[in-house]
Amino acid sequence: MGVREILEKEQLEREDLRILLDSQKDDKKLLFRRAEEVKLREIGNKVYFRGLVEFSNICGKDCYYCGIRRSNKKAHRYNVTDDQILDAARFAHENNYGSLVLQAGELESTAFTERIVSLLREIKKLSSGKLGITLSLGEQSREVYKRWFDAGAHRYLLRIETSNPELYRKYHPKNTLHDYQNRLNCLYTLKELGYQTGTGVMIGLPFQDTGHLADDLLFMKNFDIDMVGMGPYIEHKETPLFQYRDQLLPIRERFNVALKMIATLRILMKDINIAAATALQAIDPVGREKAVKVGANIIMPNITPGKYRNDYALYENKPCVNEEPEECKHCLDVRIQLVDGEIGYGEWGDSKHFHKRNEE
Ligand code: 5AD
Ligand code: FES
Repeated sequence: MGVREILEKEQLEREDLRILLDSQKDDKKLLFRRAEEVKLREIGNKVYFRGLVEFSNICGKDCYYCGIRRSNKKAHRYNVTDDQILDAARFAHENNYGSLVLQAGELESTAFTERIVSLLREIKKLSSGKLGITLSLGEQSREVYKRWFDAGAHRYLLRIETSNPELYRKYHPKNTLHDYQNRLNCLYTLKELGYQTGTGVMIGLPFQDTGHLADDLLFMKNFDIDMVGMGPYIEHKETPLFQYRDQLLPIRERFNVALKMIATLRILMKDINIAAATALQAIDPVGREKAVKVGANIIMPNITPGKYRNDYALYENKPCVNEEPEECKHCLDVRIQLVDGEIGYGEWGDSKHFHKRNEE
């Protein structure tokens, strides 16, 4: 079956998804055009901002792909102060960003839990409850997720990285800290507690093909996820996976597959929130805008205080690390207009899917 016929189908099977992900030239254009149509029809052309604060790169985990993994002794570790985080939150609020994402390396401790609780309360206070808050702080216990939810967080991002347990094992050390089942359980817990739940995968990892990626999309559909952030894998030389760099798709191709993943997911899950990942922009200066054109509706401008931005180096060649948030804002206004989008200033921009799921 060709791409044109597949795009007419009610229900997409694994093989259909794989064909869409492998599409080239005119077929790829058809896919992108359909994804754009679906997005405009289902959720409109608004793009919502989530001011991203990467407040610390101190991490207890050791994932084989990640530049801030614990064993990378060359990473310069930092921890932004609470006051600086609150300043960033104030900036997001004053500039009508609508929401904030607090992201950091993964730590599990009472002190860390309490720190986040107090930050959540302060952020709610300084914005009179107006700033939406997403957390992206990895695997935690149910009690911790619950405390954070009660303190004001309402969305959580936890990428499954790959939905295939065998692949997962290849990208992580074999110990209880890096357990596929545990990560999956965390996602179920988050959903149960009432969070708008987001996940995602890396695209173009070694050993991964478009069949695996089709499975990843079905995983998201079956889990009935509310939000997704996914982007290309970008190798980092101080990590174990770097040794497989010769086996990777060329970086431009990884970028293309990432765009096709976004477009295909938009067709598969019409009303979820899909982020245009920063990693796209590391490859193409207008990568995020291209993602918005083919289905993404969320952008996460980096509002981490300037001097730390270079150090949150999950991968190399991270974009916009020298820009101050003020410059970033103007730049993004222009960029989104270029792809016929409109920024939803001052709005939470919740996942429509989440609200529908809860009405049923
Ligand atoms: N390339 C792309 N994305 C990466 N991440 C970590 N390392 C890399 C890399 N080398 C992503 C993971 C993680 C998120 C915070 O960053 O998917 O969940
Ligand atoms: Fe950061 Fe433009 S998006 S400077």
